[in-house]
Amino acid sequence: MNILKLKAMKQQNQKISMVTCYDYWSARIIAQTPIDCILVGDSLAMVMHGHPTTIPATIDMMALHVAAVARGAPEKFIVGDMPFLSYRKGLQETMRTVEQLMQAGAKAIKLEGVTGHEEIIQYVVTSGIPVMGHIGLTPQSVHQLGGFKVQGNNEADAQALLEQAKILEQLGCCAVVLECVPCELAKVITQAINIPTIGIGAGVHVDGQVLVLHDLLGMDENFKPKFLKTYLKGYELFKTALNTYDHEVKTAQFPSKEHSFLGKT
Ligand code: KIV
Repeated sequence: MNILKLKAMKQQNQKISMVTCYDYWSARIIAQTPIDCILVGDSLAMVMHGHPTTIPATIDMMALHVAAVARGAPEKFIVGDMPFLSYRKGLQETMRTVEQLMQAGAKAIKLEGVTGHEEIIQYVVTSGIPVMGHIGLTPQSVHQLGGFKVQGNNEADAQALLEQAKILEQLGCCAVVLECVPCELAKVITQAINIPTIGIGAGVHVDGQVLVLHDLLGMDENFKPKFLKTYLKGYELFKTALNTYDHEVKTAQFPSKEHSFLGKT
């Protein structure tokens, strides 16, 4: 996958699959699948580090996880998320972050929102770095949005999102993530721009889908947003395996002869 193929997939009406990944061993599994893109999202602050929002993700954290994923899936199109405020402190700071993520193995970066950082997006693009936009529910702005809520529900907000998508295209973005927007609005945006839209909670009329890996694997038995489909009962499977291991250790069933070195005494 590369940005030319991404664009061609939209033109040829082929759906794009994307999943988040934050570590080496998951990346190795994804590398063996046809999934098109990997997002090392700042959601890692929540999923991997237990924070309530993505705000605590730092540049060093992002670079560390990008590097681990790149070692596990070097052939995949890896998108690294620009963390909280890293592109709101001027050009030099932005470019230092971009440099760190790209040198860690990202093939593109993603950043949230548009207003106020149009010039920065353009500068990154013209520096030869593919940029993915992200509009709708932008989790780094959770406190301004008043929570993790569906966006673009009224006419004015919907119009603003459409305008933002068009601006991202004009600035040279290679794709745009639409998070938690009504599916009819996602359809209008998808038809209005020539770059792919990747939806999460944006319905079926977008060009591709992204989900958090741990969500689609059902690793959190309490997380059940409307947009999520789980493809595995991961939480139960992991817990059962660990309970069984614990039981077998305590009843001396493990290790058996099969798992023991039977050398000469
Ligand atoms: O950080 C992330 O995982 C994301 C996706 C939800 C799009 O930005």
